[in-house]
Amino acid sequence: MNRRADFVIIGSGIAGLRAAVDLAARGDVVLLTKADPTESNTGYAQGGIAAAVGPDDHPDLHFADTMAAGDGLCAAAAVRVLVDEGPRYVRELTEWGVRFDRSPDGAIALAREAAHAVRRVLHAADATGREIGRALWNKARQAGRIEVLNHTRAVALIVEDGACAGVRYVRAGGGREHGGEVRARGLLLATGGAGQVFSDTTNPPIATGDGVCLAWQAGARVADLEFVQFHPTALNVPGSPRVLLSEALRGEGARLVNVAGERFTGRYEPAGDLASRDRVSRAIVREVARTGQPVFLSLQHLDATTVHARFPTASAACRAVGLDLARDRIPVGPAAHYVMGGVETDLWGRTTLPGLFAAGEVACTGVHGANRLASNSLLEGLVFGARAAAAMQERPYAGALAAQVRDWTDAPADVLGDPAGPGAPGEDEIRRLMWDAVGLVRDGRGLEQAVTTLSSAIATLDTPPPDGASEADWRRRSLVTVGWLIARAALRRAESRGGHFRADFPQRDDVHWSAHIVERSRHRSL
Ligand code: FAD
Ligand code: SIN
Repeated sequence: MNRRADFVIIGSGIAGLRAAVDLAARGDVVLLTKADPTESNTGYAQGGIAAAVGPDDHPDLHFADTMAAGDGLCAAAAVRVLVDEGPRYVRELTEWGVRFDRSPDGAIALAREAAHAVRRVLHAADATGREIGRALWNKARQAGRIEVLNHTRAVALIVEDGACAGVRYVRAGGGREHGGEVRARGLLLATGGAGQVFSDTTNPPIATGDGVCLAWQAGARVADLEFVQFHPTALNVPGSPRVLLSEALRGEGARLVNVAGERFTGRYEPAGDLASRDRVSRAIVREVARTGQPVFLSLQHLDATTVHARFPTASAACRAVGLDLARDRIPVGPAAHYVMGGVETDLWGRTTLPGLFAAGEVACTGVHGANRLASNSLLEGLVFGARAAAAMQERPYAGALAAQVRDWTDAPADVLGDPAGPGAPGEDEIRRLMWDAVGLVRDGRGLEQAVTTLSSAIATLDTPPPDGASEADWRRRSLVTVGWLIARAALRRAESRGGHFRADFPQRDDVHWSAHIVERSRHRSL
């Protein structure tokens, strides 16, 4: 069935819902979401949302911490917007009914997370995303002009006269005969992350990088995709999901220990357990290599009742595998958690394709640079979701990316590797390959092999996809395309910085690499 609306939003996480609240007050909105409406990375967010609201805090301090975490590649203007506007949007959330934890005196309780100079993370126990999502859904529905299409997957952007005119979709369980298109004057990609590209990830199954794939295929620029954040403390029990064990646990005193019960991160990192995520993750890899044994999170020295009350999500995840969060040593290890890169936008969510906007994890606003500061992601979705909604109401559009906010190195769009490689790898093979060769520790040889394999997989994708393509086909299409983009960018960046670590180029190289790798499709528009 074909529809027409003023605005289309793809995705029901924090970025899509925050935009929906404003857009539904200004026009008819169709919101597509490919699973249940509450299924999103947002729904799993644990630690909280960072904002300079504490008595000892200031946006300038938040700015400094964000820039430091970004390891030289943050877009300062975007970070300024994030930290200056963040407190206003977070206060608005409390007005809309979000119940952040409070201390006995009624003040909002702020948690500490790695690489934050002060306590600055608002949270609702360790289920902050679910609480924010609940309130945003209520607020958006009150606006009344939203048609929500659940279990509806966006499969291609409609590009006409050099602008985005709408989206094609398929409904779950069917092929094209169960699909249709929605045309609108503005379309927001809020499709979230791509952790599923890797075999080991904290992300739920929906996080397959669809937005990057759609935007790239439509000819919009994507940027910074080599920068992937690996969270150091995902539950590491063979055969069980890699459930996140929030950084807030370490913020509240949990310790990383080796098999002998010794703290070890200080051996590799001066900031110890609360160093930035990439550093703690690599410290774990080195300790595991040194001892040949797993590492653990230990909360045994903390009060058990407090631990279970403050971290019910982590507590339940441990219980599900027969462990007591407060009393047992919990085996942990790194897992792919967040993609810093994405669809390139300006400060108002405009992409390089007129009519197409992006916000949240799918976007590359430049706020995270080469590495994201903990709990800045929910904030980014909130602030830039609202900004994109404001820009989408302009008529005519001011044009995509009116001002460049960064220096870009425009990489050639040639295909590295041989597209005519051996048989096409399946989904599991792709995800394992990405983990092994494009994961926490990369090198040129492994990356070249990954690019070659993924190039052969890209060559097997039909353009356009066949009628009746299955859910698995669509999923594989995204994983292959986004995996290939990540691997190519990682191969090109011959240095180490933020989330990107090359064993063959272990140093940061500001002379050659204080720049961004951007890509634009020249050959795969649908
Ligand atoms: P999401 O919340 O991921 O929403 C994406 C939406 O798009 C979903 O509704 C999905 O179904 C839909 N979608 C995707 N593709 C399609 C398609 N083709 N068609 C239709 N719909 C589609 N960040 C923090 O700041 N603080 C935290 O404490 C925190 N904890 C985290 C814990 C975990 C376990 C994880 C995985 C992430 C965490 N993060 C945290 C990161 C943060 O949750 C995400 O980056 C953020 O929620 C992304 O929001 P979003 O709106 O961009 O996308
Ligand atoms: C966590 O709770 O450790 C995740 C927070 C984040 O990803 O910002």
